[in-house]
Amino acid sequence: MRCTVFGTGYLGATHAACMAELGHDVLGVDIDPGKVAKLSAGEVPFYEPGLAEVLRRNIEAGRLQFTTSYVEAAAFADLHFLGVGTPQKKGEYGADLRHVHSVIDTLAPLLDRPAVIVGKSTVPVGTAAELGARARVLAPAGDAVEVAWNPEFLREGFAVEDTLHPDRMVLGVDRDRPGSAETQLRQLYAPLLAEDIPFLVTDLATAELVKVSANAFLATKISFINAISEVCEATGADVTQLADALGYDARIGRRFLNAGLGFGGGCLPKDIRAFMARAGELGANQALHFLREVDSINMRRRTRMVELAAQVCGGSLLGANVAVLGAAFKPESDDVRDSPALNVAGMMQLHGAVVSVYDPKALDNSRRLFPTLNYATSVADACENADAVLVLTEWAEFAALKPDDLAGVVRARVMVDGRNCLDAQQWRNAGWVYRGLGRG
Ligand code: UGA
Repeated sequence: MRCTVFGTGYLGATHAACMAELGHDVLGVDIDPGKVAKLSAGEVPFYEPGLAEVLRRNIEAGRLQFTTSYVEAAAFADLHFLGVGTPQKKGEYGADLRHVHSVIDTLAPLLDRPAVIVGKSTVPVGTAAELGARARVLAPAGDAVEVAWNPEFLREGFAVEDTLHPDRMVLGVDRDRPGSAETQLRQLYAPLLAEDIPFLVTDLATAELVKVSANAFLATKISFINAISEVCEATGADVTQLADALGYDARIGRRFLNAGLGFGGGCLPKDIRAFMARAGELGANQALHFLREVDSINMRRRTRMVELAAQVCGGSLLGANVAVLGAAFKPESDDVRDSPALNVAGMMQLHGAVVSVYDPKALDNSRRLFPTLNYATSVADACENADAVLVLTEWAEFAALKPDDLAGVVRARVMVDGRNCLDAQQWRNAGWVYRGLGRG
């Protein structure tokens, strides 16, 4: 089949490359000529394990191209995916839909044949119906243009795997205007359907809501364990063991019960806020009041970490040398959007600490966001003469650290484990002060 993908960020670039991997002819579209040039040359503009290989393989096979031209895209295919960003509005909780609107407003007037536009971006419930109405008015093909919604559940760091082997696929269609979206997507995703991956067809609003509900649930699960972690700290209990014990209950499950510095990134924080804002607009604001608490438990982790750092540095961060290991919002990513690690690093600097940050992949992005922090070229470089070492992103490289690796490098043997990824006993046995969040 032939399809286009509008937006070539984490979501769009991955979707485009993976649809080509399934054997389809794909044209990725972006307004940023720099991104298009990079992708066309087989380079991924961000770090995503395995994506570059898929990209190159499919460019070489002639199945994958990129362009900035909407005219070319409208001529290329009659199935168009929309995968542009929906960030948080400045100073408001709601989602900023300007990129989504701009794709529809530019593409629709070029559609003079029947076409299906399938949204993948995370949008407030009601958006798909509104975009459908907008597209039908703007397109010369009028009512022959269908808008459907196929939310994306991929995780950064596992984007290729999640796209080619998702837990489930959801497709929202306009029940009032039956079209060909379902048939076309069943054909497009045939190799996935052959693996018996569940494919749920719903109305538009349900599909939009599945996505934000999933992220709200995941955020709630993380904040739940972090709230319990606060109680653990107050009583000397160990949240890691507690989570292990809870996780054996199949109804609860161990995944997403890692207590620590909490969630960040370009999705969970802004999605729960946009969800609250939308519920408010719909007159259902009480329903999601609890997400405010989920958000504040999460943000409290960051201030708690700064307090803990001050505590282990003798009561104040003023003049302290602090090594921060990790800047990405999670391992296997170079994404620093709303990164708890970088946030903590910035706050500690404001409290007078000299902060040295190291991350295996996210240094360039970090430098752009927080140019005044010191950036190190290795773990040892970051830890030189440190009064405290803070692990704030659980990269495998950091989780594998042994006390001896750093003993001769630091000024004081103090380890603060913001992700509870180290073996506490091992560090304490080696004579280090070890502090974890929620670990007694
Ligand atoms: C999240 C969802 O997991 C995806 O399903 C969804 O498609 C995506 O958002 C999206 O909406 O685009 P992602 O932001 O890539 O994916 O990252 P997650 O793996 O969900 O991690 C989010 C944050 O939670 C990270 O900062 C991570 O460190 C933190 N986290 C995760 C915890 O603090 N504890 C945990 O147990 C798990």
